[in-house]
Amino acid sequence: MKLMEYRIDAVVEAFSGAERVCVFTGAGASKESGLPTFREIDGEWKHYDPMTFATLEGFLSEPVQVWNMYRMRQRQIGEAQPNGGHSVIAQMERQYPHFLLVTQNVDDLHERAGSRKLVKIHGDCWGMRCLQCCETYDTRDFDFPAEFTTETLPICPKCEVLCRPDIVWFGEFVPDDAMHAAVWSSSTCDLMLVVGTSGEVSGGYGFVERAAMNGATIVEINPTEGILTQHAHIWVPEPAGVVLPKIWQCLTMYK
Ligand code: OAD
Repeated sequence: MKLMEYRIDAVVEAFSGAERVCVFTGAGASKESGLPTFREIDGEWKHYDPMTFATLEGFLSEPVQVWNMYRMRQRQIGEAQPNGGHSVIAQMERQYPHFLLVTQNVDDLHERAGSRKLVKIHGDCWGMRCLQCCETYDTRDFDFPAEFTTETLPICPKCEVLCRPDIVWFGEFVPDDAMHAAVWSSSTCDLMLVVGTSGEVSGGYGFVERAAMNGATIVEINPTEGILTQHAHIWVPEPAGVVLPKIWQCLTMYK
């Protein structure tokens, strides 16, 4: 379908006619909260080699370096606050009876804004998982140092084997339950809102394509055109934290 020129009333109309909503977010959704994205000019993967910091092989060869990068991200995330876009998405779940937020973000800003109907397909930056028994833990429940050394790396309390960050790295699969929920929601929604993802990873999951094929209206919010924009009926080239509150305000007035 031809991409509509962006007009706020077209977006408001799409939302006001929707019943089953799937929101799909990526790193750009947390940009107005001060968190970096991955692939933009100053993104995480420009500073950290993903082969070391986002693969199991990298972790096994440099566990201290990798854990300390995640410790640093935990500090950044802990200091960040949800932005206006996160709060609008949290309000949406109370507006639409059929709603799911599918996020690739490992920060907890959606939850802190009030989102409860969500699946985190790439894991959670606060989580750790035992390499042997796969038990998961919240790192905040432990008295870990700000920086790890070989001697202080996180160890499973049950089997005393090294724990890894509970994040889906390159070459790994999204957990089944999260994947099923995301596939179901994207296949059955009548409106999909795509926020702040380049599609470099998520394009492979086919959520947006699937929603479009099943007749959903696709609204994308992203200042930059990307590989998912071809599926969008309406592309909103603006920062999510700024434009989502505007859209929500118009929608509330319209109702
Ligand atoms: P990317 O860094 O690939 O893409 C971020 C997108 O956000 C880009 O398309 C930007 O144009 C857009 N963007 C920037 N500022 C924005 C704003 N203010 N409002 C809306 N959009 C904005 O990040 P993801 O697509 O999320 O995996 O990356 C996917 C995965 O790759 C991540 O989950 C991560 C990474 O490897 C893990 O951490 C496991």
